[in-house]
Amino acid sequence: MTASHPSPIQSFLDALHARFAGVRDGQVATYIPELAKTDPDLFGICLATADGFLYEVGDSRHEFTVQSISKPFVYGLALDDHGVEHMLTKTGVEPSGDAFNAISLHTATGRPFNPMINAGAIATTGQVKADSPQHRVSRILAMFGCYTGHPMRIDSAVFDSESRTGHRNRAIGHLLRNFEILDDDPTATVDSYFQQCSIAVHCADLALMGATLANQGVNPVTGARAIEEAHVENVLSVMASCGMYDFSGGWIYNVGMPAKSGVSGGVLAVLPGQFGIGIFSPRIDEQGNSVRALKVCQEVSRAWELHQFNPPYCPRSSRRLSYSCAERNSSRIRHPRELACVRDNGSRVRVFEIQGNLAFATTESIIRDVISGSGEQRSVILDFHHVTAVNGAAARLLADLATAMVQRGTATFFTHTQGLPSLRQQVAAHWTDAVAVDRLFRFSTTDLALEWCEDDLLRTTAIPVPSRVDDLRAFEIAAGLNEQELELLDVLLTRQRYSLGDFIIRRDAEATNLFLIMSGVVGVWLGEPGTGSRAASFSVGTMVGELAFLDGARRSAHVVAESDVECSLFDVADFLRLQESHPRTHATILRNLAVSLATKLRKANNDVSILSAQRS
Ligand code: DON
Repeated sequence: MTASHPSPIQSFLDALHARFAGVRDGQVATYIPELAKTDPDLFGICLATADGFLYEVGDSRHEFTVQSISKPFVYGLALDDHGVEHMLTKTGVEPSGDAFNAISLHTATGRPFNPMINAGAIATTGQVKADSPQHRVSRILAMFGCYTGHPMRIDSAVFDSESRTGHRNRAIGHLLRNFEILDDDPTATVDSYFQQCSIAVHCADLALMGATLANQGVNPVTGARAIEEAHVENVLSVMASCGMYDFSGGWIYNVGMPAKSGVSGGVLAVLPGQFGIGIFSPRIDEQGNSVRALKVCQEVSRAWELHQFNPPYCPRSSRRLSYSCAERNSSRIRHPRELACVRDNGSRVRVFEIQGNLAFATTESIIRDVISGSGEQRSVILDFHHVTAVNGAAARLLADLATAMVQRGTATFFTHTQGLPSLRQQVAAHWTDAVAVDRLFRFSTTDLALEWCEDDLLRTTAIPVPSRVDDLRAFEIAAGLNEQELELLDVLLTRQRYSLGDFIIRRDAEATNLFLIMSGVVGVWLGEPGTGSRAASFSVGTMVGELAFLDGARRSAHVVAESDVECSLFDVADFLRLQESHPRTHATILRNLAVSLATKLRKANNDVSILSAQRS
């Protein structure tokens, strides 16, 4: 995926390229003779976002050898092979403040100071598990291929050139063998190291390698994992502290991003979680870092305020909306008496809609919100519909929050978590009680959870919720009818039973009846029952189907029995006949239907205003 139109990001990179193309400070490296042949004016920049979008300018597809930029990636491979503890016995992680090719080994242990200087890098290459030197190099090439998304090749001219002249690195290899940091033939390991340094890359490759690290080790274009997630921070840490050699302090001070340079003129910088940027310009300074690349990174960091030690504060945005059940109840249509009770006690049920990316700080602000006032709450619903990602720490904190809430007697539910499978996995790994996990994730939607919370409120209040209603007077439709009219209506109604899952109304069917629910619960489904969207549900003592009953239109939704249900059916033809035979009764019923619709419309308006007004 590449940008087809200039964006402000692209324009900024274009301008930087134009601005620094004239800089001619520094020298092309010559100690590897083949590198001296490089055109010094080449200049490319590529930025790859952590979701795999590339911005490119200049010679961003010109190939050069990766050189020292290979070191953090091979270190990652060795970490994946052996783990952190073992690798720390082979090389430290302390900045040496030395040049890249310094023969700086710890005097007592012979251990190199870090894996970014040549000594540490050769020690690291020696740790890549393999049956033979060829196997080692092929594993290294395959690992690079995971980061770039295509097969990699070695520039044999540069490799031959370094092989012929790399005596200093050979000396380092022998010293490492002497201190038993390398266990076998140092010549073969140094040879593998020369080959890894001679892998051909371009800026887009570097940027994507950086984006893969920024994306917790997964190539965002191919989806392939290039390094274990746990080792990404180890790799980026050594890049941050040692990646630019004896300029590492100045680099992190000015640019504030982990980075690695190569002597052929490449620089790769990573903004963790956000992007990788690859720059190529062969003129390097005395520390071995590309002069133009350094300027580009400084400007990018300054202009876009990317210094890692001064990140923007963002937790504010993690709460999208919060409301109580008194302000907005579920889509369950209830008898007015029940509804009044839900409204009166609804402040004891609270919904928090969360949004964005949940890590420590964004989660902390949610926890604070949920806890404040939780003393009076009987139940709390955390709605994750608008959450894009939850990291492990956030999941564990949320699990701890749920534990604390439940222990204090507050029913707690996490809803709309289908897009976040890792949240449930992490909570399940953190909690041993599988029943408690099931309870926490019991409801897929906030509406279902709210319905449960309302029923729970109703169970605890003084007003008993009847499980069946036989008296017509309990229905809104009967309000204002006298005894004779009630008897008349009763004669007109026919009883009908439905079993759980039966269709009461099918979408597109002709409307022939109004349904008064005498017992059970019915659900209204906009799509297929169970898979579509459940628009509403109806309790005992309410009526369903009045829309099409009134205007004669075909049914707009399926209505399904959600338990065993008994209804009284009021035939539309009987209702119409009443207009002639009993006009007063007809008018009263019509008015009652209008009142019922007005109540529903008022609720819809209230929902819209609650759901839109509070959004931050
Ligand atoms: O070992 C060497 O000298 C080269 N293959 C790599 C050195 C390097 O890239 C230093 N970086 N600026």
